[in-house]
Amino acid sequence: MIDINQTPEWETLKKDAEMLEGVSVRSLFETDPDRFSRFSIEAAGLFLDYSKNKITEEVAGHLLALAGVADLEGARARMLAGEAINVTEKRAVLHPALRDFSSRDYFVDGENISRKVRAELAKMKAFAQDIHSGARKGHTGKPLTSVVNIGIGGSDLGPLMATEALRPYWIEGRRAFFVSNVDGQHMADTLALVDPETTLFIVASKTFTTQETMTNAETAKRWFLSHGAREADIAKHFIALSTNAHAVKAFGIAPENMFEFWDWVGGRYSLWSAIGMSIALQVGFDNFEKLLRGAHAMDEHFRSAPLRENMPVMLALAGVWNRNFLGAASHAVLPYDQHLHRLPAYLQQADMESNGKRVTCDGAPVGYATGPVIFGEPGTNGQHAFYQLIHQGTDLVSADFIAPAISQEEIGDHHEKLLSNFLAQTEALMRGKTEREAREEMKRDGYAQSEIDRLAPHRTFPGDRPANSILMEKLTPETLGALIALYEHKIFCQGVIWGVNSFDQWGVELGKTLAKTILPEIAKAGEERPVAKGHDASTAGLINRINQIRSRST
Ligand code: F6P
Repeated sequence: MIDINQTPEWETLKKDAEMLEGVSVRSLFETDPDRFSRFSIEAAGLFLDYSKNKITEEVAGHLLALAGVADLEGARARMLAGEAINVTEKRAVLHPALRDFSSRDYFVDGENISRKVRAELAKMKAFAQDIHSGARKGHTGKPLTSVVNIGIGGSDLGPLMATEALRPYWIEGRRAFFVSNVDGQHMADTLALVDPETTLFIVASKTFTTQETMTNAETAKRWFLSHGAREADIAKHFIALSTNAHAVKAFGIAPENMFEFWDWVGGRYSLWSAIGMSIALQVGFDNFEKLLRGAHAMDEHFRSAPLRENMPVMLALAGVWNRNFLGAASHAVLPYDQHLHRLPAYLQQADMESNGKRVTCDGAPVGYATGPVIFGEPGTNGQHAFYQLIHQGTDLVSADFIAPAISQEEIGDHHEKLLSNFLAQTEALMRGKTEREAREEMKRDGYAQSEIDRLAPHRTFPGDRPANSILMEKLTPETLGALIALYEHKIFCQGVIWGVNSFDQWGVELGKTLAKTILPEIAKAGEERPVAKGHDASTAGLINRINQIRSRST
């Protein structure tokens, strides 16, 4: 495996960054009338403008050379060919196969997996239709109008984000709830809102061993049985989405009520699989299929467009440039669409669990920065919270601004106002305001010279804050699918450049193991526990303090 930061291509980009140090993006716009069309790409119903990054044609060429030396095209081919590119878990990575509606077949170890995908989709469709038509009812004969999806991480965030994003497509009279946290309050609060006779519980877990999900599923089952249902009624109210048929059966869900997916579907890439059942139930299977088709359109673009015109590739390279050569350690995801309010959380997992790695695929420590911290909130809320730091803080933060030109809900002039903020922010981040401009502005506004001198540094903006704009006509199942696939491929491309395995997540294991050790040391309410041993003084001290409080409570 090559040491990417030891290559001449990396060196060239370092020099580019130095050379561009005194050059503002504002001046790049002034000297190049074609900048907007040069650094924008349209594909699969999305339009990406990345011209507000400090990128020149030369830099773009050098970034593509870096992609070449990292063999990005070869890596893409290997992924799509079903090679076990998740090397630590020896698994293929084939979420594009879940949404490929062409006649193409995918193979893993010589097995045609596309047939299984089509069969499972057909099973999901039939199930959704039976729920919607009322052919499948609850144990007292009432229609199942509420769904509680019990899952966490990829088995929660994707379906939750997409269901929220597609609110206008909700089937009338249906409700979807998502319980993820092992904090019992999450389940209790949800159970208080649903009726056991009309609720379908979906236990969504790739492994079917995740502590949070199994605890929540057991609680839901107990609640269901304590509300007049019998063991035999579970079959009508509980289904499982999993790769682990054995554990599903052990939990008490019959094989015909299990919807399968496979180990080549990563948890954070699974909303296209059976894990999307809650989406299909809430917006209808046809809309779920449109979501998949939108993602497929982006897959086709990613698969075939030349790298310079390839949206996920150029978005990824702009990110690498900002992260590794300009020093942006954080990246904000800023959807100007309230229905995308869970997109930042979804992308946090997608990106940080994928590329938050410190060793390369062959185990060598990386000598450069990898995945940035991802955070975000919908615009305009974020503007009144953390944008201050992006505009004037000491750290460089890059950002993606995402907006539909037409809102799902056009009311009065709300959307014009929202869009004007969307545009103003990227313009302000790029342009900034020089001290001279700040002074002139205050002078025009009639400030005294002493006030101008005092306030000018505070009212100066450095500019050159990198911002991508992602536009779509409207947020629909298709454009949402394309948007998510865009990010999936962007994350893949960056992982390839950094040489990390974007498809494992060993970093979540240590905490899980330690929690298992600590669990028996936590006192039940009103019970004593021996003094905690075998921990550092902080952890032991906290355990003992918690136990003192809990032993006193009833
Ligand atoms: O703990 C991390 C993780 O493994 C994620 O990658 C995954 O999405 C989540 O837990 C849930 O896992 P499962 O679907 O197996 O319950």
